Amino acid sequence: MSDLAPLDESITLQQLDEDPYPIYQRLRNEAPVLRVKATGRTMLTKAEDTKYVKDNPELFSSDDPNTPMKRAFQAHTLMRKDGEAHMRERMAMAPAFSPKVIRTDWMPQYMRVAEEYVARLPRGEIVDLFPALSGPYAARGLGILLGIEEASDDDLQRWSQTLIDAAGNFGWRDEPFEKSDTANAEMNTLFDSLHERHLAEPNNSALSVMLNADDPIETTQIYSNIKIAIGGGINEPRDALNTILFGLLTNPDQLRQVKQQDDWERAFEEGVRWVAPIQVSSRLVMEDTEIRGFHIPKGDTVMTIQASANRDEDRYEDGESFQVYRERQSHQAFGNGPHFCQGTHVARRAVAHVMLPMLFDRFPDMTIPDLDDVIWRGFGFRGPTQIPVKLQ
Ligand code: HEM
Repeated sequence: MSDLAPLDESITLQQLDEDPYPIYQRLRNEAPVLRVKATGRTMLTKAEDTKYVKDNPELFSSDDPNTPMKRAFQAHTLMRKDGEAHMRERMAMAPAFSPKVIRTDWMPQYMRVAEEYVARLPRGEIVDLFPALSGPYAARGLGILLGIEEASDDDLQRWSQTLIDAAGNFGWRDEPFEKSDTANAEMNTLFDSLHERHLAEPNNSALSVMLNADDPIETTQIYSNIKIAIGGGINEPRDALNTILFGLLTNPDQLRQVKQQDDWERAFEEGVRWVAPIQVSSRLVMEDTEIRGFHIPKGDTVMTIQASANRDEDRYEDGESFQVYRERQSHQAFGNGPHFCQGTHVARRAVAHVMLPMLFDRFPDMTIPDLDDVIWRGFGFRGPTQIPVKLQ
């Protein structure tokens, strides 16, 4: 039998949180299949391998009982289901994400929200766009799409972060779960209170289409999948927007060309390739198998590092740099296979079609006065946690 992949005991979670990219660059060259003690996972850093794993759900299941996700969400969400069970729940929410509904229902509302949120930004001052714009804009958009507009931007962002913290609580400490239990109770109360409205006035929001379906899925699953969208639909558009702003503002030549050619969608695609908002995913190995000649035993958990796949030298020239006008190439920021991100189109439109052109139209000469003030963080999810911009 082939050998197990090498074991690494030196990489720390802190290093990965601060800046995983130099580590991934080294691993792609030296140890693309590596058992990493700190993560308890076999980490895969090459684009071919991450795609292969996600495209083969029979061999690599999403239903990994070793993650704290079930405990965090108090439910088995669609992200951790396979096959028919997954598809049934994904399809229940699908009408809310259809391209037509995005165009007719969501984009006019996103436009109105963007106008309001951009208008309240002060001109001539240095403002951290994370709390002032990106976070609230992502939260409001999601509230509208899910049909839970009654939740405030602050509540949505707090619930989202609380769910993420608990789902990533691999040390199984009590405190993150106590907080997520409170958030779950608050969300359940809100969702209960919205039944009447959505039944009386059916609409295209995710909650409404699921409640009004001919053959609805269980209410507990409706709630847990709304929660999955809260946990996984705010930070990514927020981080994508902040990342793209950083990329464009630190590359004025590219920004000039993007403005001239109205290439916001291209800038969006390059931003999420460069720093993938969801950097890693986990899959449970269902049968003994091999990757790159290494034995991968049944029961192991492999971690696909799409952040690394998106900079793989086999696919991208100088993948470490932000280059809007690089040769067009697909990326893995939205995943692959049956769990491919359901929010791809809405996120792309919200950021690239609505917010970026509007923001640069109102503040054409924005700058980042001090690059040292931009703080990047995150291993599982990544983006600037602080991005002070001079609005002019
Ligand atoms: C730039 C923005 C976004 C990025 C980069 C992103 C990325 C991803 C990725 C990588 C996955 C797959 C995870 C896996 O394979 O385990 C995923 C799944 C998902 N995303 Fe997104 N996402 C974004 C925005 C959104 C938004 C705005 C929503 C909701 C409105 C959303 C809803 C979902 C849902 C429901 C899933 C689970 C799909 C399934 O399991 O079938 N995403 N996303």
